[in-house]
Amino acid sequence: MPERLAEMLLDLWTPLIILWITFPPCLYMAPLNPSQVLMSGSPLELSRLREEQRILNRSKRGWVWNQMFVLEEFSGPEPILVGRLHTDLDPGSKKIKYILSGDGAGTIFQINDATGDIHAIKRLDREEKAEYTLTAQAVDWETNKPLEPPSEFIIKVQDINDNAPEFLNGPYHATVPEMSILGTSVTNVTATDADDPVYGNSAKLVYSILEGQPYFSIEPETAIIKTALPNMDREAKEEYLVVIQAKDMGGHSGGLSGTTTLTVTLTDVNDNPPKFAQSLYHFSVPEDVVLGTAIGRVKANDQDIGENAQSSYDIIDGDGTALFEITSDAQAQDGIIRLRKPLDFETKKSYTLKVEAANVHIDPRFSGRGPFKDTATVKIVVEDADEPPVFSSPTYLLEVHENAALNSVIGQVTARDPDITSSPIRFSIDRHTDLERQFNINADDGKITLATPLDRELSVWHNITIIATEIRNHSQISRVPVAIKVLDVNDNAPEFASEYEAFLCENGKPGQVIQTVSATDKDEPKNGHYFLYSLLPEMANNPNFTIKKNEDNSLSILAKHNGFNRQKQEVYLLPIVISDSGNPPLSSTSTLTIRVCGCSNDGVVQSCNVEAYVLPIGLSMGALIAILACIILLLVIVVLFVTLRRHKNEPLIIKDDEDVRENIIRYDDEGGGEEDTEAFDIATLQNPDGINGFLPHYRRGLLGGVTQDAA
Ligand SMILES: *[C@@H]1O[C@H](CO)[C@@H](O)[C@H](O)[C@H]1NC(C)=O
Ligand SMILES: *[C@@H]1O[C@H](CO)[C@@H](O)[C@H](O)[C@H]1NC(C)=O
Repeated sequence: MPERLAEMLLDLWTPLIILWITFPPCLYMAPLNPSQVLMSGSPLELSRLREEQRILNRSKRGWVWNQMFVLEEFSGPEPILVGRLHTDLDPGSKKIKYILSGDGAGTIFQINDATGDIHAIKRLDREEKAEYTLTAQAVDWETNKPLEPPSEFIIKVQDINDNAPEFLNGPYHATVPEMSILGTSVTNVTATDADDPVYGNSAKLVYSILEGQPYFSIEPETAIIKTALPNMDREAKEEYLVVIQAKDMGGHSGGLSGTTTLTVTLTDVNDNPPKFAQSLYHFSVPEDVVLGTAIGRVKANDQDIGENAQSSYDIIDGDGTALFEITSDAQAQDGIIRLRKPLDFETKKSYTLKVEAANVHIDPRFSGRGPFKDTATVKIVVEDADEPPVFSSPTYLLEVHENAALNSVIGQVTARDPDITSSPIRFSIDRHTDLERQFNINADDGKITLATPLDRELSVWHNITIIATEIRNHSQISRVPVAIKVLDVNDNAPEFASEYEAFLCENGKPGQVIQTVSATDKDEPKNGHYFLYSLLPEMANNPNFTIKKNEDNSLSILAKHNGFNRQKQEVYLLPIVISDSGNPPLSSTSTLTIRVCGCSNDGVVQSCNVEAYVLPIGLSMGALIAILACIILLLVIVVLFVTLRRHKNEPLIIKDDEDVRENIIRYDDEGGGEEDTEAFDIATLQNPDGINGFLPHYRRGLLGGVTQDAA
């Protein structure tokens, strides 16, 4: 390929086109001159060709320009000449024809094929298309044979200042704190210019302020807007309108310009103290107002806004600091005075408070301007209110002995009307609290008396409510709880704590404790019970038993000798006198029954007098069932017996022994014979231990009864 190219080049012998550029509108474009165009560069293609030529040692070359320039927006009567193509081929032998192709060839750019002049036949806009790439070629006029290879060149559209600067993001808004120092940066703005930024000054912008001085300034190059006055006061003027201009051509006259507006708002800083609207406030309040009620509001105005206007309120002095409090209402930015403790018109009729409002958020930069607080005086007048009676005590505790006489005075309540026009008071008992009407009250003096007898052992407390009513105004009522405690008097004698029954072993030893008893007393002496036990005076020297008081207030009964014998005496009765320690003491006599029993060698009671002997507790279930079965069987026998006798021998006369025998036989059939009758021995079941004792005798009695009856 390069061989062929080199061959062709050799044949053509310096076949290059010189692009000659003319500049008819040079008046507009002063900086353009040939040397500049020459400097604007050699394209790759041409330099390669030249390099090849140099290698071939054929350097015979003039200036080669590859760019043409045409001014945008040109509109004249004639098409504008952009440039001229020229080849230094010897035109003597052949006639040359120039051909143009590429961007806009024929439509925008037209070539005179004989002279090589290129004209722009349309108006061009650099901002629309800044350059066109075209190809030129010289051909033989007649044969159309190319006389040399095509060369590419560019037509650049030359910028003119046909676009004004524009602020695309305007209008602008910005804020800056009031009281800022001079030169505080506010914001910056930017304008854009569509013209060529690298060529000429068409896009070189300079900023200035048209409106908004002397408050703000702008840096001409960077468009940074700054404060131009120190200490601008928001409270004097909050908003500023700034008109900004951007001008191209470096700001020179003849340049184009655009404007925008910037609204600058000063933001608040705390540069103003609070100030009370009034230096003196008057409030009045009824003495019976509920605690916590708002009595009045005070307000300190602050020219600042938001948190810079926030104040906290305080009571700093005055004679009512203990009774009143002030709370800050952040929403309304005022202070609410409230009642903290009850008022009493009769005690004090007016109060003076010194209240202070102090800014919450202080700006240290301005604290030198003085205190950011203010004070005011508040006068509060207490108004009289009709108040209900007041008892001398919030509760009463009365005590009365249970044996107090009827109509005796138990205690007294007093009350008074706190108002200046003190009304007399009447007292009454709330009967819901004294349903049994146990008490009365004297309506005039409040003395409580006993209406019915009291019994501490029935009820210790009688808690009632007393009502006080103002005679002049029945709606003024107060109530007070009165707790009446019934005090104990010794009105109950002591007695055995339970029904005791003692057992004494025949083989017991002298001095043996046969029973321990204790006593109870319904009364409740302050120091607890202390019981005294004694034998009846006439039995004081009982030869058989003696008593011994124990530490724990109980009593032991001891046998004085041995050799008790139930054959001789089965039961002993021992009366014991129990006395309490009341004043006066009360006593009672209880009799202890002592039974003599047969015991095992180790002292376990085995058998006692039957009639009196109580079943030992803890019979097994089986034993109980057996007893029940026996009773039922016995009943059946009796019923059968009676029925049979009625059936057979009406009227009820025994006729002969056979019948009886028959009956007995029947009885035997069912019961299983004579031997079986032992099964009906109740005593056996009652006391299995006694089988070998007197039981046979007992059984005999039972059966004997039946047989005898039957006989
Ligand atoms: C009556 O009041 C007394 C003293 O306040 C209290 O101890 C007692 O429990 C009260 N009794 C009754 C039944 O409310
Ligand atoms: C003491 O016991 C004997 C018999 O054991 C009796 O005769 C006598 O009456 C008893 N004395 C008293 C005071 O119970």
